[in-house]
Amino acid sequence: MGNDKSFLSSTEQVPVTGDLPSHVAVIMDGNGRWAKQHNLPRIAGHRRGLESVRHIVKACADNGIPYLTLFAFSSENWRRPPSEVNLLMELFTNALEHKARKLHENGVCLRILGNTSPFGPKIRMLIQRAETLTRDNRDLHLTIAANYGGRWDITEACRQIARHVEAGQLNVEQLNEETVRCNLATAFLPEPDLFIRTGGEQRISNFMLWNLAYTELYFTDTLWPDFDLSKFEDALSSFAERQRRFGRTGDQLGDKRRVRNA
Ligand code: FPP
Repeated sequence: MGNDKSFLSSTEQVPVTGDLPSHVAVIMDGNGRWAKQHNLPRIAGHRRGLESVRHIVKACADNGIPYLTLFAFSSENWRRPPSEVNLLMELFTNALEHKARKLHENGVCLRILGNTSPFGPKIRMLIQRAETLTRDNRDLHLTIAANYGGRWDITEACRQIARHVEAGQLNVEQLNEETVRCNLATAFLPEPDLFIRTGGEQRISNFMLWNLAYTELYFTDTLWPDFDLSKFEDALSSFAERQRRFGRTGDQLGDKRRVRNA
């Protein structure tokens, strides 16, 4: 049952943390406003946003940050005008078609997180091809959340657990946090240490609801296409200043600004 037992929940066990995050999760917001500021169509903002994706992927690889998860398309983004949705799908298709090999050469393991069934057959084929090509790479785990929603993920996990109960494989009394965690679509990921949202809004917008329980949150007004290496370093510096307590008191941590051992 479930598919990954290697990442324990931070509410069950205090994790070991360091000055650098091991997993960065990002809501890349502000592409549309960037385009408007530059008198360009919205899709030009998304194209520029793809450049920022390139920069942050490289920055993570260069800094030895092993996990990067990017929210590219939410379950709710289907509500956008069909023309914008179509252009975004074209952008994803092109990126998968033309960037997968380069990612592979750079040791990146690419995974798509979300319900891919509503996507067209071409995108689904390209996703499968890129995931298969890169699946043994370990330098950077790059996860693109596409047609993903935190509530969708938790609901699907409940559905899966209910099936196990129905089949007599699980007793309700045995159900615990780990049962939920390992039935989530995100089970192959550790919890994010640092969440970044660009574009000025201060909300989580249905992203990784279960996983962000003890994640450090960083919000910036910078629009995603302007989020360059120096802005990323600002986020990392902010993270390095945080005292992560995981429910304990500051006094319990003594003089240590950071928790180094569980
Ligand atoms: C939010 O900005 C951005 C998106 C919904 C799409 C994100 C897509 C990219 C960054 C490019 C493609 C990425 C990959 C990984 C292939 P918004 O449109 O909501 O901006 P606004 O709030 O200013 O309108």
